[in-house]
Amino acid sequence: MREPQLLVAALVLLAATSSLVYAKVVEYEWVVDYAWAAPDCVEKQVISINGEFPGPNIRSVAGDTVRVHVINRMPTEAVVIHWHGMLQTGTPWEDGAAYVSQCPIDPEDEYTYDFVTENAGTYFWHGHYGMQRAAGFYGQLIVDPPENFTEPFKYDGEHSIVLNDWWHASMIDQQLGLFSVPFRWVREPQSLLIEGRGRYNCSLMAGGRACNATRESCKLHVMPVEAGKTYRLRIASVASLGSFNFILEGHNFTVVEADGHYVEPVTMSDIDVYSGESYSVLFTANADCSRNYWAGFNVRGRDPKTPTGLAVLQYVNTSGEPSTCAPVSPRWNDYAYSVAKARQYLARKEFIVPLPQRGPDRQIFLLNTQNRVNGRLKWALNNVSFVPTATPALAALKYNITVEAHGGLSSATPPDYFQEGYDIMKPPPYPETVQGSGVYELKGDQVVDIILQNACSLTAKVSEVHPWHLHGHDFWILGYGDGVFNASKDYASLNYYNPPLRNTAPLFPFGWTVLRFVTDNPGVWPFHCHIESHFHMGMGVIFAESVDKLPEVPTDTMGCGAIKFYRSP
Ligand code: C2O
Ligand code: CU
Repeated sequence: MREPQLLVAALVLLAATSSLVYAKVVEYEWVVDYAWAAPDCVEKQVISINGEFPGPNIRSVAGDTVRVHVINRMPTEAVVIHWHGMLQTGTPWEDGAAYVSQCPIDPEDEYTYDFVTENAGTYFWHGHYGMQRAAGFYGQLIVDPPENFTEPFKYDGEHSIVLNDWWHASMIDQQLGLFSVPFRWVREPQSLLIEGRGRYNCSLMAGGRACNATRESCKLHVMPVEAGKTYRLRIASVASLGSFNFILEGHNFTVVEADGHYVEPVTMSDIDVYSGESYSVLFTANADCSRNYWAGFNVRGRDPKTPTGLAVLQYVNTSGEPSTCAPVSPRWNDYAYSVAKARQYLARKEFIVPLPQRGPDRQIFLLNTQNRVNGRLKWALNNVSFVPTATPALAALKYNITVEAHGGLSSATPPDYFQEGYDIMKPPPYPETVQGSGVYELKGDQVVDIILQNACSLTAKVSEVHPWHLHGHDFWILGYGDGVFNASKDYASLNYYNPPLRNTAPLFPFGWTVLRFVTDNPGVWPFHCHIESHFHMGMGVIFAESVDKLPEVPTDTMGCGAIKFYRSP
């Protein structure tokens, strides 16, 4: 299939036949604990690894095994780690989604993640239990192509940054607010961070918390460049809430990679980055080299109340921050601009992975609505708001354990369609919805289309951007459109020739997005909005793929819920 994958397969084969070992094991020991950190000069509690915030970065070569020994030293909280963008072929229990692929790792307990990095590209890892990502529990995961593989572009140096939005309220305050009746809104973020660094204006502090603008920890991230050289800049977003627009002051750049796949080069002056997405852009340090420049990003899709997140693009032999104003992004609600940008990403010519020679075997239409359950604000798909069970779905399905008895939620299969004639332009006529833990069972070797349909929220005239992320697969984005998806007409308008393969796709306000993938990876895979609070409020579904072909599940992932009683026959 994909060239890099082929190469990896060839290498592995070579290694096996000639007993030369190419693929190596990259090993880490990570002690997870709470720590104090002041990423934007304001101190708060975060989740750290080996005392670091943000957590350490992983770098490996495609085909390598990554082995991470996790030791949970948080006294009162379990933890899991999701390897965002890793396909986990054959190892679905290493996906790190709490109560889907495994039981969370208890305090003082340990777990070793062990998986192969299949495709080269820019990825990241993050907590996937409750809202732990919002507590700063994330880092980069970069996979280089094998040595004898030549990438379709050249560069002299590399920088890599993760973008995030940041609140002074703790993760627990945020979570409790979302579940409170009435809803307690955590409000727009206080800061925007680049590589875990930002700068809050301490004079705005209402007292109480320690804000100290001279802290080392909130010195802005610096990216040194040498005049005349070309750089690869890797950009990812782990945002909890916002969509972002990123700018390199004084420099255009060319996008060459998106979510681990090469795209047709497209040059731009600013790039939209949605939570869950990653990109590589190339830029040449060809601006006036007597000064430094801002790398900055702003919130899109919500009326921004947060100052620009900043880092410094530093030309050699100069120092200090630019004296220019922070970069300004296009109007936050110019969605036409964002849709046009999203449509520019196409699979790179030499790397097109052709679509299967047939149409969909299964179509799942997912209506995205904001709802209520007993006064609590929720998000729902086809009128079902997702809640995890206390039993990991993977092991439960593999060993035929009924989870219904545990937790008392509906385990009915959620619907593939929503009500015909639903008016997406109006708030839901019946806001009350149901909660469920049911899964979509997908048969193997099927072509599956997901038609994401956006709609009006509970507030008239408001529809939000939702970046949808799938575990265990990359999907083709066949197209985006406005209004209600009309199968008989809109299927003809989709891109069947060179659609990009991605693991995350935006769904625009009052619009639709069509995704296609092939069920070639037995596992139980979450598919959810990557906005941390939206997923936590039910905006996700679970695909149980090829349940009959699931491999045996390691028992050390099964110590909770109904599955803890399971004994292999
Ligand atoms: Cu990066 Cu299930 O998410
Ligand atoms: Cu969302």
